Amino acid sequence: MDIKFVKRDVLKEKPDQKNLGFGKYMTDYMFEIDWIRGEGWVNPRIVPYGPIEMDPAAVVLHYAQETFEGLKAYRTKDGTIQLFRPEMNARRMQRSNERLCMPSLDEETFVEAIKALVNVEKDWVPSEEGTSLYIRPVVFANESALGVHMANEFKFVIMCCPVGAYYPEGINPIKILVEDELVRAVKGGTGFTKCGGNYAASILGQVKAEKMGCTQVLWLDGVERKYVEEVGTMNIMFKIDGEIYTAPIDGTVLPGVTRDSMLQILKEWGYKIHEEHVAIDDIMKAGHEGRLEEVFGTGTAAVISPVGELVYKDDSVTINDFKIGELTQKLYDELTGIQWGKLEDRFGWTQ
Ligand code: COI
Repeated sequence: MDIKFVKRDVLKEKPDQKNLGFGKYMTDYMFEIDWIRGEGWVNPRIVPYGPIEMDPAAVVLHYAQETFEGLKAYRTKDGTIQLFRPEMNARRMQRSNERLCMPSLDEETFVEAIKALVNVEKDWVPSEEGTSLYIRPVVFANESALGVHMANEFKFVIMCCPVGAYYPEGINPIKILVEDELVRAVKGGTGFTKCGGNYAASILGQVKAEKMGCTQVLWLDGVERKYVEEVGTMNIMFKIDGEIYTAPIDGTVLPGVTRDSMLQILKEWGYKIHEEHVAIDDIMKAGHEGRLEEVFGTGTAAVISPVGELVYKDDSVTINDFKIGELTQKLYDELTGIQWGKLEDRFGWTQ
């Protein structure tokens, strides 16, 4: 791909690496490419980061034809920069886009675009412990037309921001509300895609949870509201009687890259893994019987997020005395060890 480069006159001042938070400081440049029906992808370019001109009738603003991805670039201890399984994000975006009738970049072009932008922005990849450069690809329909249809014009953009911990609490246990009224996804819907609409529909649950003193929501299945699916924007895993349980990838749950990586590590460590539908009643029962040893969310942004308490209807269980579980900590150390190049990458995940 022949990427045009438009230089900016003045570079931004870089933020304090000890105080990055999440998603607050965008870098100097962004990658852009357009899709036009009949022409395909045209005009790849890296341009100064800034507002995008958009017609108020742009399809995305009305009918939410949009998907996005999230991955990170890590600064290793010898100063080099590496990406973690970017091809997984490319493939997932293709599956998301198929569901939303949107065009995708092929895997090679997707990864090439990310590498080109990260290379331009290499000075923005932070080196402070626990930090990384979050990379956010997004594609949206920007044709102006109010009829509901598969759009004829799309824009794909990649932006980056140096980040620290996603939750201000860091990797500390959080209190979770099991949502038994609102639902996130049903089979045949868009639950397996990373489309903005899924996140828009989830915010009310989060607001409700916060009002009840919880940080996030545990989503149940959309039909019976009986089986556990995801926690907030993350996949969720339960350690019960020494074995791992997590919802299967069968249409409603996001196929998380962190989820997949953690499962591979757990398998290697000899854990028995059940990718199956587990009823919330069984989880609560295991909690009351002292068999629910650890619960944690997994995702790119926060990596791993331990759950310290589950609140369900008028019942609640505390997990591991609200402390970080041994396995949770070990998984965090192992995965981030590979990502930051402190541990040998025996899976071939980094590039
Ligand atoms: C992640 O866990 O990586 C996410 O998808 C969260 C993101 C929407 C900020």
